[in-house]
Amino acid sequence: MAPLKALQWATLMLAQLPFTALATETQAVLQPPNDPGSERSLATSQRRLRGRFLHITDLHPDDHYKPHTSTQENIACHRGHGPAGVYGAETSDCDSPMSLVNATLAWVREHLRDEVDFVVWTGDSARHDSDEEIPRHNNDILSMNRRIADAFVDTFSDETGLVVPVVPTFGNNDIYPHNILMPGPNDILRTYSSIWKPFIPEAQRHSFEFGGWFYVEVIPHKLAVFSLNTMYFFDRNAGIDDCVHPSEPGYKHFEWLLVQLDSLRSRGMKAILMGHVPPARTSGKQLWDETCWQKYTLWMHQYRDVIVSSLFGHMNIDHFLLQDAKEIDMALIQASAESQFSVRETMDEELSIQSSAGYLKELRDDWAKLPSPVALEQGADRSKKRGRGKKGKDKWAERFQLSLISPSVVPNYFPSLRVFEYNITGLEDNPTWVDTAREIQLNEEEVSHQDEIPDVGELKRRQTADLEIEKKKKKKKNKGKGPKPPKDPHLRLPEPPAKGTSPGPAYRPQTLTLLGFTQYYANLTYINNDLGGSGGDDDDDDNDKASSRGWNPGKHKGKTPKHDKPQPREFRFEVEYSTFDDKIYGLDDLTVKSFVRLAHRIGQASKKTEESFVQDNSLDDDDDEVDEHEDEYDVVDDDDDSDSEMYDESAKRGKKKKHKNKKKARKTWLHFLKHAFVSTKSKDELEDL
Ligand SMILES: *[C@@H]1O[C@H](CO)[C@@H](O)[C@H](O)[C@H]1NC(C)=O
Ligand SMILES: *[C@@H]1O[C@H](CO)[C@@H](O)[C@H](O)[C@H]1NC(C)=O
Ligand SMILES: *[C@@H]1O[C@H](CO)[C@@H](O)[C@H](O)[C@H]1NC(C)=O
Repeated sequence: MAPLKALQWATLMLAQLPFTALATETQAVLQPPNDPGSERSLATSQRRLRGRFLHITDLHPDDHYKPHTSTQENIACHRGHGPAGVYGAETSDCDSPMSLVNATLAWVREHLRDEVDFVVWTGDSARHDSDEEIPRHNNDILSMNRRIADAFVDTFSDETGLVVPVVPTFGNNDIYPHNILMPGPNDILRTYSSIWKPFIPEAQRHSFEFGGWFYVEVIPHKLAVFSLNTMYFFDRNAGIDDCVHPSEPGYKHFEWLLVQLDSLRSRGMKAILMGHVPPARTSGKQLWDETCWQKYTLWMHQYRDVIVSSLFGHMNIDHFLLQDAKEIDMALIQASAESQFSVRETMDEELSIQSSAGYLKELRDDWAKLPSPVALEQGADRSKKRGRGKKGKDKWAERFQLSLISPSVVPNYFPSLRVFEYNITGLEDNPTWVDTAREIQLNEEEVSHQDEIPDVGELKRRQTADLEIEKKKKKKKNKGKGPKPPKDPHLRLPEPPAKGTSPGPAYRPQTLTLLGFTQYYANLTYINNDLGGSGGDDDDDDNDKASSRGWNPGKHKGKTPKHDKPQPREFRFEVEYSTFDDKIYGLDDLTVKSFVRLAHRIGQASKKTEESFVQDNSLDDDDDEVDEHEDEYDVVDDDDDSDSEMYDESAKRGKKKKHKNKKKARKTWLHFLKHAFVSTKSKDELEDL
């Protein structure tokens, strides 16, 4: 009993001292008297929620980058003479010069530090291994990451210290050799735990070193951002197998996520998930191991009342993904039928422009099969035309989940940043992260993570890294041929939302719902001020051919800069587009339903659209808005001659409408492509794709 007494006494002391000290202040009663951060929160009480946050990704800093060097393969803007600009070689595969990283963070500090509530930073803060003369080394990768992490601290600090919570994760290029992360704990995870010390809550450092995952309450007691370690889901990580064997780190990752999301649910909190590698899974290609995708989709579905959104990087192109809960296969998740893996090609880790276009077309073709929002609402999937019963009604499109993927800072196209806005109704006076950071850290220290420590035998097995990798590589090849694993008796599955729970912020507009985003870009052609901005000449065709072989030397390949000494213009980001006023997208908000509607419309541009013209009025909703932009693209409709039926009058009307929808769909599709490549492609180039 003695320790309890001591604790009570200490609490008493803590409670009384500051209280008496502040008793003369009229405001003192409003402050929790034992709040250890009260001194600070008084100092920074000016900081209020803004309803905005920054998503920044794929900086790829390269301190070997030199202006006016060659953008060719295996030189990568390190040597020779060529068009590489001061702030980066836009549209090429060269990495970012330090000047671009500096200028980007300086711009962010000046324009965004005091306008955002938190920062989602989705990794890849080291260069690629694209020059045989200067191979990457583990130490360079880690020391660059340390430099960049320190730069983030500077960017989001004022004289009192860090004022904006930053939530990082690592990318497949932040580890050596790239793509391979063995199960933790290991040196890499311990090093990142140290590099990100200012960002990872003290109490979670231990579990971070075990799995590379953590979360931050970016709005205390309201909203947490979860940093997922997607390396443990990534199909190209030869250090792991899948997410269904209990010894796998991916399996443990989902266990951890379940416990945390349960806890948030019971506290009435919401979560934003973020990671580096997105759960891309088109008809032909996929980035995550299928079992990880399956579990993720199940978790997202069961926690649809808790999860606000999920954000990723890695792909460089601006786009989004929809996961469909109808594709959840419990047999795979319960590991009883491993041999049933669908066979999809593993995706190249980063996509050239040609393969990106192919990938986006696959997305579009998959979207062609989406039910229209109207059909969803009425419970009429287009496959069963007369099935308009109550059954299957999905007014808020809760069957689907959305992954938003932001383009990168590294100028594979133009450098880009995304600023989200979200609904803070009712939270205007909520304490901010900076007010309570210390208090939260103290509370979290009480949480034990004992159960996550793996047994010694397993650790030993994991430490023979190279052998393991070889073995696993072989095993991967033979996937499905080995003995079936037994059904896991300990597997815990997430519970769905409690009966009667109304749809979460991802689905139904409410507090914390994402309202929209503004996409910023830096026009390096203009800023570098060395080369013309024109595209679409013969040169560019060569580029595209070259790029399909792998390396992309960029649109200025073979050109000579006009100044001997670079004379850049002032560096700045400007708005590329905003979902708030983009008439072609017509997104009322960033709810899943809004994106299902958009994806469905884009899908109508696919040749794979079903030939039947269903009672689908969803495209008429925003007719006029779209038509205002009639001239933006010349619509060449070549999709129509495949049809050789006989028509009656109503079929003709249907056909006419279908034609109009196709035209509109194609326009939306081209608009989507334009943004995918951060406005670096001309109209003609987009048409060619
Ligand atoms: C980038 O910023 C760092 C720190 O402020 C500075 O030391 C470095 O010289 C800068 N590099 C470039 C290329 O601007
Ligand atoms: C924001 O949330 C409040 C409270 O749920 C809601 O009344 C309001 O309509 C929402 N605003 C928008 C723009 O969705
Ligand atoms: C970028 O700048 C170049 C050169 O000034 C210009 O030709 C081009 O149209 C600009 N691109 C965009 C998307 O603003």
